[in-house]
Amino acid sequence: MKHKKALYAVFACLLVLLPVLSACTQDTEEPAPTTTNPPNNEEALLPETPGIDATLVYASQCASCHGTNRQGGVGPGLTKNITIAYLSQWVPTHRTGVQLDPRLANSLINWLKVNSTVSTVPQPTEPAFVYALNCTVCHGATRSGGNGGPSIKPDNLTRLTEGFLAIFLQGHYKGVDLVQDQRDALAEWLKATP
Ligand code: HEC
Ligand code: HEC
Repeated sequence: MKHKKALYAVFACLLVLLPVLSACTQDTEEPAPTTTNPPNNEEALLPETPGIDATLVYASQCASCHGTNRQGGVGPGLTKNITIAYLSQWVPTHRTGVQLDPRLANSLINWLKVNSTVSTVPQPTEPAFVYALNCTVCHGATRSGGNGGPSIKPDNLTRLTEGFLAIFLQGHYKGVDLVQDQRDALAEWLKATP
């Protein structure tokens, strides 16, 4: 009898402790907060857990579609310089990234970023030129829409801030391939030029 009571007491203790314990372990596994830094090219890397080999994570999770050397295949090439902010939103919701432990995802994202090729060719930032090269095909030469893209004249963009647009373009079609200076210039120009 006494024995049973003692057992119940142990169980009761465990029940009380469990949420506390799980709160502790959750603490260490908490995914990195998504960065809210202003968009620039000097982003901080995500916090990393030592001992994770990102090349292995890539090889097992991503290489089948993005190529052994990130050259592209079923999916686009991944050697370009994509922002940490964009990767942090994209990877955890994308294909094999969905079930990826956040610690593995962080290392993978940092590795993709650090080993990206920053183009050494000077990038034109003249927004009308950047627009013509990258956006006309869908939004039309005068931004009034056309081939699948809506009108994006300033009147249509009143609900979107310049800052929002600069970040939106990080993940929008050809905007992914631009550098942040080009997106910033485009965002300002889209809002200001009738
Ligand atoms: C089953 C195939 C497949 C797997 C696995 C896969 N991807 Fe992708 N990925 C794609 C395709 C296809 C696209 C193009 C956009 C789309 O259709 O979703 C893409 C787009 C991307 C983009 C956006 C790049 C751009 O230029 O738009 C990133 C970043 C990316 N993948 C990273 C990853 C990472 C990191 C992994 C591994 C954790 C991964 N992908 C696993 C197929 C895959
Ligand atoms: C392949 C076609 C395509 C290309 C290229 C493209 N867009 Fe878009 N764009 C769309 C479509 C479709 C939408 C509406 C749905 C969406 O938001 O994805 C859109 C939406 C937008 C919006 C939001 C409009 C709104 O009212 O919410 C902006 C701003 C924009 N595009 C700007 C650009 C800029 C700048 C470029 C060039 C860097 C570009 N787009 C390239 C197809 C395209």
